Amino acid sequence: MIFVTGGAGFIGSNFILDWFCDHDEAIVNIDKLTYAGNAETLAPLAGDPRYGFAHVDICDRDAIDALFAQHRPRALLHFAAESHVDRSIHGPGAFVQTNVIGTFALLEAATAYWRTLPAGERDAFRFLHVSTDEVFGSLAAEDAPFNERTPYAPNSPYSASKAASDHLVRAWHHTYGLPVLTTNCSNNYGPYQFPEKLIPLMILNGLAGKPLPIYGDGKNVRDWLYVGDHCAAIRAVLERGVPGQTYNIGGWNEMTNLDVVQAICNMLDEHEPRADGASHASQIELIKDRPGHDRRYAIDATRIERELGWRPAQTFETGLAKTVQWYLDNPAWIAGVTSGSYRHWIDSHYA
Ligand code: NAD
Ligand code: DAU
Repeated sequence: MIFVTGGAGFIGSNFILDWFCDHDEAIVNIDKLTYAGNAETLAPLAGDPRYGFAHVDICDRDAIDALFAQHRPRALLHFAAESHVDRSIHGPGAFVQTNVIGTFALLEAATAYWRTLPAGERDAFRFLHVSTDEVFGSLAAEDAPFNERTPYAPNSPYSASKAASDHLVRAWHHTYGLPVLTTNCSNNYGPYQFPEKLIPLMILNGLAGKPLPIYGDGKNVRDWLYVGDHCAAIRAVLERGVPGQTYNIGGWNEMTNLDVVQAICNMLDEHEPRADGASHASQIELIKDRPGHDRRYAIDATRIERELGWRPAQTFETGLAKTVQWYLDNPAWIAGVTSGSYRHWIDSHYA
């Protein structure tokens, strides 16, 4: 069986749901259920003997040790994190706690457990750390995309905490021999994404007739990857990745934020036209920029394609169409995550 941390979040829950489409190997999902964790997403797995849930903070070393002793996993896939850049600017403490201290606690617990394994199982064990392209910092328009040799230059409290965790993971391999794998992925989008992030926020605001707030001049560039493609890449790295290696994962799809939002508006105009006949693009508002806003991210995903045979299956058009349709089809899930503390975040951040 395997452990997944942060499996109640956006990417982790997609990973678990996809996994059981063609695997019977069990998963125990270790999640603290912060504001970003939603047990409802995994409700279809209730009663499934392949799925277990541990309501545990990854910083709680004793609880993690007990889970290792009880379940004896062959791998740990580490998704759990504080993941929203804007929140890291308002309150960086939680990011250092979960992303740095939490990863440290997991590495310590995993290493202690791994040392008790018989030789064959010790060689086969994997600690797969899910990280981000933001650790590489910001590119100018003419710069080559990030590859696995690009130096780290994180610029936000979020990316600095993720970079710190990547360094710990690297050191636990180099010093103790723990068989680690690290992935650095670009911006994901798709079903079950918490609507504080750009794409779901724009879909929901668009449908509600609210402003579509774009930071600065809207020309910041991100590389966008459909979440199902990210999950497939992680499965490839888990099964075929070389311990100690890092793998960049991306969609070969750089876009400005304005172009992303325009594409969403075009789809909303088609599926849910406004009563007044105007385009949803009329709701776009350029607002005050994010402090320290990285200008451009771009990923060179050649290594994972060449060495592990992974390439994204979705284009931005097909992935976005699935995503918009999912948000249109799932008002109950949206209502569940947009009450209370979510409304408070939106009101205070965009005030
Ligand atoms: P998310 O914010 O949607 O989910 C995070 C999950 O971690 C939640 O279920 C939350 O409850 C859980 N969690 C938080 N703190 C915890 C703790 N102390 N103990 C246990 N569980 C805790 O995040 P996401 O977007 O699904 O991202 C998952 C991972 O992928 C993160 O490590 C992130 O850095 C990385 N990543 C995300 C993207 C993206 O575009 N979303 C891109 C590249 C990499
Ligand atoms: O690059 C990978 C990273 O992508 C992940 O590591 C992070 O966990 C994930 O949150 C994401 O970070 P970003 O900061 O790029 O994502 P976000 O959706 O917050 O913003 C995407 C772009 O859109 C960014 O340039 C900021 C801009 N933006 C965002 C919001 C929420 C706006 O213009 N307006 C907004 O309201």
